[in-house]
Amino acid sequence: MILALGLFLCVLLGTHGFNTQHSIEPQADFDLEKFTGEWYRLGVADESNTFAMLKHHLKVSKGLLVADASGNVNLTMWTMRPNGCSISVNSYEKTDVPGAFTYFSKRHKIIKDITMVETNYTDYSLVLKYKSMDKEYTQIALYARTPTPTLEVIQKFISFALTLGFSEGAIMVPADIDHCPNLESRSTAEFREEKSAQTTNQSIFGTVSNV
Ligand SMILES: *[C@@H]1O[C@H](CO)[C@@H](O)[C@H](O)[C@H]1NC(C)=O
Ligand SMILES: *[C@@H]1O[C@H](CO)[C@@H](O)[C@H](O)[C@H]1NC(C)=O
Ligand SMILES: *[C@@H]1O[C@H](CO)[C@@H](O)[C@H](O)[C@H]1NC(C)=O
Repeated sequence: MILALGLFLCVLLGTHGFNTQHSIEPQADFDLEKFTGEWYRLGVADESNTFAMLKHHLKVSKGLLVADASGNVNLTMWTMRPNGCSISVNSYEKTDVPGAFTYFSKRHKIIKDITMVETNYTDYSLVLKYKSMDKEYTQIALYARTPTPTLEVIQKFISFALTLGFSEGAIMVPADIDHCPNLESRSTAEFREEKSAQTTNQSIFGTVSNV
């Protein structure tokens, strides 16, 4: 009985807990125009079981952030699939706070917030998804303007993730670079078809890959 209780406590203590002391706000004077353009996602911190299963497949992938005149943005991300490059587009709606957006997560069927926590526009950005800190929903991504990270930027990302209470195992900084989009002359319509033809597993991974 005592042994059983001991094991149970170990399991409980082994579970992870987010640090919810911090109130996380977007970077002051966030400048959307300077933030738009190409970004490479160099790291992801995610405590969910789905991510734990798929994280070793994660690669550095390319994204393009486009804003419209009203301040809403679309983030297009490219991912290599067994049958070629596929794209996914997430539409983030602006809020009253510059640097804070919302979007509807197709995977979790809820509205999530996006916070542009820190950026210097020319090199890196730290983006937090779902700041209420939930193991299944919360994710941090590190983006940079080039696919090759500097140690300084990686360290910034890792220490931010640890400060929020992510466990080391939930923080991934992939070494491989995804070769999408490549220079094959294939149309966007074809990419979209491939996307809708993905298996469940691939589309789960697609969602994990998108921030
Ligand atoms: C985002 O994409 C949607 C669907 O293609 C489009 O209607 C919308 O205008 C785009 N928004 C921006 C900010 O580019
Ligand atoms: C942006 O951040 C990187 C990494 O911290 C740094 O090397 C670079 O000098 C910064 N650029 C500007 C314009 O502050
Ligand atoms: C889904 O992905 C996981 C992890 O890569 C793998 O173990 C599993 O076999 C895959 N399932 C299917 C149906 O492809």
